[in-house]
Amino acid sequence: AALDAIAKGCNLPLEDGLKAETEAFLPLIGSPISRNLIAVFFMTQRLQKDAGTADASVKPRDVGQVGVIGAGIMGAGIAGANVRRGVPALLIDAAPAALEKGVAAVAKSLQSRVEIGRMTIPEATAALSRLSSSLTVNALSDRDVVIEAIVENEAAKVKLYGEIEKLLPPGAILASNTSTISISRMAKSVKAPERFAGMHFFNPVDRMQLVEVIRGEKTGDATVVTLVALAKRIGKTPIVVRDCPGFLVNRILFPYLNESLVMLEEGASPRGLDKAATAFGMPMGPVTLNDLVGLDTSLYAGRVINTAFADRAANTHILDDLVAAGRLGQKTGAGFYTYAKPGRGADDPALTAMLEKQGKTRREIGMEEMTDRLFLPMLTEASRVLS
Ligand code: NAI
Repeated sequence: AALDAIAKGCNLPLEDGLKAETEAFLPLIGSPISRNLIAVFFMTQRLQKDAGTADASVKPRDVGQVGVIGAGIMGAGIAGANVRRGVPALLIDAAPAALEKGVAAVAKSLQSRVEIGRMTIPEATAALSRLSSSLTVNALSDRDVVIEAIVENEAAKVKLYGEIEKLLPPGAILASNTSTISISRMAKSVKAPERFAGMHFFNPVDRMQLVEVIRGEKTGDATVVTLVALAKRIGKTPIVVRDCPGFLVNRILFPYLNESLVMLEEGASPRGLDKAATAFGMPMGPVTLNDLVGLDTSLYAGRVINTAFADRAANTHILDDLVAAGRLGQKTGAGFYTYAKPGRGADDPALTAMLEKQGKTRREIGMEEMTDRLFLPMLTEASRVLS
């Protein structure tokens, strides 16, 4: 509406321009969109003041420097977010090539900030100087917070905690970036469960504001407020959530992704589903999102959530079939769509053939039905979360 008013008004005399502005503005007042945007604004304001616990007397601990273990997609992003905002970070990976790639990813993200004018060269250099790296965990002895971002494998994570706990300074906090593994369950294997929590960033860390701070059964208030304060300090928007499968965001997202799979198997076109979602306001549709996340990751996370909420999870096969065929999404050049080069995927008749092979009756599904079936499950899941 603002752009419209400018376009209409800029070549008119002042009086007429102001009239165009008034006409564009009036219908917005009190509209559902306006009401919701105002509500989001106040929620964000409240969140900025929210320390993360009901007890206001609990103060965050000082965090001088952090450690990040696992220099993959997420670990490199998390280390980058810290050094950019002045928090020294030690990035660790057991694989030399992965560490090299992780450090290069941090450097590249700083460089691209310089290129788009969001950072000066001295600022980027200073940020990079706050990054250190290591192939072993021995250097963790001066880290106040350690964020673990290694592979999504519970046994590997728990083994690592056993190795590093004895190295950490007294009072240090250990946080996991896991997307699906129970924090309370992993806490059983650590010596100080009150100083263990989830700190779940989103991909790409550079661009996603939200961070879920996950409180396990035994996580202490001081741990929660310290992680909330750290997330704010590095420019993120933290929310404190309970430990349940999918935490908050994935628990609400997966019913939507799952319903897109059900509709694909019923005959909906992938492009149609993506269009219905973007027309509703999503930045990208569910089929493209699945290809971006990686179908193996999505399959694994989806299983955890479908098992936990079996009463409302419809089982589908197409993800299993694609993963079995080595089609893991953009990262392998093919998933639901094919990717000759990065960017928008191309429709693939092989997908239709795989769907038809399932032998289910297929029918066309209209936009309205797609929209309802994609978004209503999100709404009902969000209501359940609240209750
Ligand atoms: P990744 O596979 O890109 O990176 C994992 C890194 O950990 C690898 O470089 C590997 O060499 C290293 N590693 C494995 N075991 C190690 C050990 N014992 N000590 C040191 N380094 C070790 O994985 P990604 O995608 O970065 O995921 C990491 C964690 O973040 C997982 O728990 C995942 O569920 C979670 N996550 C992933 C998101 C995503 O979109 N990829 C989003 C949010 C959370």
